[in-house]
Amino acid sequence: MENIVEIKHLTKIFKSKNKETIALSDINLTIGEGKFISIIGGSGCGKSTLLRIIGGLETKYNGTVLVDGKKVEHASRQTGFIFQDHRLLPWLSVKENIRFGLPKELKNNDELIMENLKIVGLEKFAASYPKELSGGMAQRVAIARALANKPKLLLLDEPFGALDAMTKMRLQDELLKIWEKEKITMIIVTHDIDEAIYLGNEIVVMTPHPGKIKRIKQVELETPRSRVGASFNMVKEQVYRDFFDTEEIPFVYSI
Ligand SMILES: Nc1ncnc2c1ncn2[C@@H]1O[C@H](COP(=O)(O)OP(=O)(O)OP(=O)(O)O)[C@@H](O)[C@H]1O
Ligand SMILES: [Mg+2]
Repeated sequence: MENIVEIKHLTKIFKSKNKETIALSDINLTIGEGKFISIIGGSGCGKSTLLRIIGGLETKYNGTVLVDGKKVEHASRQTGFIFQDHRLLPWLSVKENIRFGLPKELKNNDELIMENLKIVGLEKFAASYPKELSGGMAQRVAIARALANKPKLLLLDEPFGALDAMTKMRLQDELLKIWEKEKITMIIVTHDIDEAIYLGNEIVVMTPHPGKIKRIKQVELETPRSRVGASFNMVKEQVYRDFFDTEEIPFVYSI
């Protein structure tokens, strides 16, 4: 299997007048093409910074970051981004929002737009405006907008963090279907351990100050995965035990 992402000795320091923040310290990570990688870790451990560097939104750092064997100099169509908020333009319809994200040569391709709205089940809402959509629907449009650019790599930064539990589970299943069908490599940042296990082939756990990788765990569960099965819960217990100091885990609250 080819590696789509290769990161060696990545360090990122943010400098301001009187402060230096080591956002990432000596990160080493290799991601095989077609994998689904989950990144978990507390607030401030550099997860978003890492995605921004992989996506070419942040280009000043020390170390090597290669995507498809090349240094990333700027954001490109081959890498899609999905954030916690949908970032749709309120004055454009769903269809026009997707068109807006396309390069010049594809702007008139209505078929491409509708095809991607269909993937997320929203072809009937092409003429609707963002304010007429639920949070889950708006996030689906954001997914369609990213997919329309036919990315090889999709970076998701807490994409379902603001959604209710049921909608979140539905969108996780839709994302898995897209991943299987389109063979896009996906990297998701999440605070939700269940989500990390349900989606990921590998879980990367980071710790803050400075942002470091603590552990990379392979998830050896069969697909489709059950969210409530014994094997899922066994992995969940391992993740807690492996990644946190056991004393810190409130498995049982004592009064
Ligand atoms: N543009 C910036 N300028 C200065 N410091 C920054 C900048 N962006 C991030 N940082 C700092 O780098 C560290 C990592 O930030 P980052 O946003 O990557 O964390 P995160 O893991 O995504 O956190 P969260 O889970 O809260 O989203 C933090 O200490 C943050 O304050
Ligand atoms: Mg973040």
